[in-house]
Amino acid sequence: MPESRCLQGIWSSPWIFIFAASGSAVGLGNIWRFPYLLGENGGGAFLFVYCVCLLLVGLPILMAEVALGRTVRSNPIDTVNDLSERRLIHSAWVFVPWLAGVTGFLILTFYSVIAGWSMAYIERAVSGQFVGISELGAQSMYNSLLSSPREMLLWHTLFMLLVVLVVGQSVTRGLAALVRILLPVLIVVLLMLAGFALYKGNAWEAAQFLFRWSWQDMTLKVVTAAIGQALFSLSVGMGAMFAYGAYMSKRMSIASACSTVALIDLAVSLLAGLIIFPLAFAFHINVQSGPSLTFVSLPIIFGSLPAGREVGGFFFLLLTIAALTSAISMLELFVAWLHEKYYIARMKAAFLLGFFVWLIGIVVLLSFNHWDSKLLFHLNFFEMLDKLTSHILLPLGAMLLSVLVAWFLPRSVLQNEMVAKKSMCFQWWYYTLKYVSIPVLVLVTFAGWIGV
Ligand code: PHE
Repeated sequence: MPESRCLQGIWSSPWIFIFAASGSAVGLGNIWRFPYLLGENGGGAFLFVYCVCLLLVGLPILMAEVALGRTVRSNPIDTVNDLSERRLIHSAWVFVPWLAGVTGFLILTFYSVIAGWSMAYIERAVSGQFVGISELGAQSMYNSLLSSPREMLLWHTLFMLLVVLVVGQSVTRGLAALVRILLPVLIVVLLMLAGFALYKGNAWEAAQFLFRWSWQDMTLKVVTAAIGQALFSLSVGMGAMFAYGAYMSKRMSIASACSTVALIDLAVSLLAGLIIFPLAFAFHINVQSGPSLTFVSLPIIFGSLPAGREVGGFFFLLLTIAALTSAISMLELFVAWLHEKYYIARMKAAFLLGFFVWLIGIVVLLSFNHWDSKLLFHLNFFEMLDKLTSHILLPLGAMLLSVLVAWFLPRSVLQNEMVAKKSMCFQWWYYTLKYVSIPVLVLVTFAGWIGV
């Protein structure tokens, strides 16, 4: 499809693509999910596998999603329909973008609840509740939030409203401009906090935990968690990056733009680890405590900083905006499809979908208190959704999409997209996707199914 036929216009500068895609990638996955998975999975071994997965699985699939988006310049469902009308692939492949949309929808149901915690912490920081807080105080502050479904409901509702309004107005491109300013600010704030945490906390023990590993630690559970996190953090396996590819100019190199996004994403996750672990070891916070880790560790650092109220409030505001720029990409797929295919107003479509996400989100937030019973495989509702999406649906979606791109799309179409001049780069991408990423994902999806 010629560039002029693209519905939303083309981004002229590669930096706009990089900021928009980083807006989707950088979020709670880096600052909340990555540290607690690192803690639960033994530190060094997880970090090592995670970096390898980012390079050999996450990055090639990110490039595949962006390339596919740029080929047809439409929403993922119509992209596949269009390719099948051109007799390039079978129409049954439309199952893949559908699966991707459902995965994004399900992730958003718990993502919004956790983003609500971040909003609740803005209020706590600004009202001075972090000042001089001890680890026991931080733990009980977290527990009191979790035991109040009403408060969680309030923040979850507010966050979903924001998501719906942003997606409904189609200001995704405007947000790229916002991310352009906020992302560097977030990185500078994280750098300063990391410096402070390394100085105040137990840097030695944290370094031992993060960078030492042995082969015995490399279990299938660690590998599964690392791949799931690599996909989650790069926002791949659910079509979120399709849309950004669709806006990308043909002149840009997909390889260098996507590598930059992956590097930014990794840097933010590493910085979060360098803040949380020195503190956790210094204040005897259990690093295996799961989802509470970030929300218990961070108040302690803000509580002992000179301008802790302001810095803490500002940090959680940044985290909320980062979560918002990620959340919109989870709803975008179905909203764009309803709008482009059935001419339903974007706002209407966003409200309709957002309402169902909000409803399921209520069950998620209740699973932290009243309905904390284990439903299946010793998991509560939130844990089930988290495992279902990151251990099964994301790897499955990523695998099917890679199979489609690497085995079924004509190589010439791909070579065109990947800027054929850099043929070494194309070879690396193509063969890694075909012979490394896909087999690894088949294994992981299978391991996910059998409940590893
Ligand atoms: N990558 C986002 C984060 O790290 C989460 C996300 C997952 C966004 C899947 C879109 C799709 O927070």
